[in-house]
Amino acid sequence: MTRAVGILGLGHYVPEKIITNTDMEKIVETSDEWITERTGIKQRHIAAPEEATSDLAYNAAVEALKDAGVAPEELDLVIVGTASSDYIFPSTACLVQARLGAKNAAAFDLAAGCSGFVYSLAVASQMVKSGLYNKILIIGAETLSRIMNWTDRNTCVLFGDGAGAAVVGEVEEGYGVLGIDMGADGGKFLLQPAGGSRNPASEETVAAKGHTIHMNGQEVFKFAIQIMGKTAKRALAKANMKPEELDMLFPHQANYRIITSAAKRLKMPMDKVWVNVDKYANTSAASIPIALCEAQKAGALKKGDNIILDGFGAGLTWAAIVLKWSK
Ligand code: UT7
Repeated sequence: MTRAVGILGLGHYVPEKIITNTDMEKIVETSDEWITERTGIKQRHIAAPEEATSDLAYNAAVEALKDAGVAPEELDLVIVGTASSDYIFPSTACLVQARLGAKNAAAFDLAAGCSGFVYSLAVASQMVKSGLYNKILIIGAETLSRIMNWTDRNTCVLFGDGAGAAVVGEVEEGYGVLGIDMGADGGKFLLQPAGGSRNPASEETVAAKGHTIHMNGQEVFKFAIQIMGKTAKRALAKANMKPEELDMLFPHQANYRIITSAAKRLKMPMDKVWVNVDKYANTSAASIPIALCEAQKAGALKKGDNIILDGFGAGLTWAAIVLKWSK
């Protein structure tokens, strides 16, 4: 059995507290001018002390279920793409599943860094397409502020907290997911070195800030600008579509310069590219679903639009999915 599979509903949530670039100037030696010019970021949302990743994920999920008109009991599976789970185990997906009362659903987290939401959509769409499941909730959710080194200006200005969710299910024939490309290369340019089995938590790992994000920004930048175009073109080829047939590009929101480079490689004008990195900074796995949800709320997505989701992240990983919008 095969069937058309797409997105039935979307939701997103960002914490209330905003830290602007001017606020960042009081935390590390930086400037609004540097951050704006190099990244396009103007501000980021930061979770309240009592908020963890599953809380952000839950709020986004409630909105997505409502938008889809799907009850929690109808869900067969919950997948959370995250690099900042509540605990190392159990999974954040299990916490969200229980809190939603999705009592018929299995649950697991998916570790693909910032590509986590696109990877989750790839997995979920194939599970529904095969007939194994009917309705799957996928969420990209992060509280990267909890694993940030707030004394490292190379990283702490770049990230923000947030969550975006989608309900995946059967759609009208000819709509939904049309092409998928995913990949990984094992490059360790972006990692949280301590707290796992390689470097378990100790006084030394804490003192060395090993439990925070470590990144070689320039290497990730070089990787990102070449891979975003490549993975998008591969997904388009699988969808039997040319870049000029695309109505909208939803790139991972890490850096405005990376976004414009991806758009250029696909020859897409910037008015067809959803950009919100200025408002939220890099929310990792949450960035693409937040962008999608915002676009839907703004009325920028019409039934029949050809769109592409284009992500990259820790792993290093990359993934692109072409969809014909079905709502
Ligand atoms: O989701 C995936 C996650 N990561 C990414 O996508 C990151 C990809 N990389 C990037 O976006 C860029 O490489 C960065 C924004 C991280 C850095 O921009 P860059 O143009 O590559 O700057 P750079 O690392 O070459 O640093 C240039 C200068 C350095 O000073 P010197 O050595 O030239 O004196 C840095 O120390 O800028 C300095 N610098 C800063 N200055 C002010 C680095 N961070 C800051 C800062 N404020 N926050």
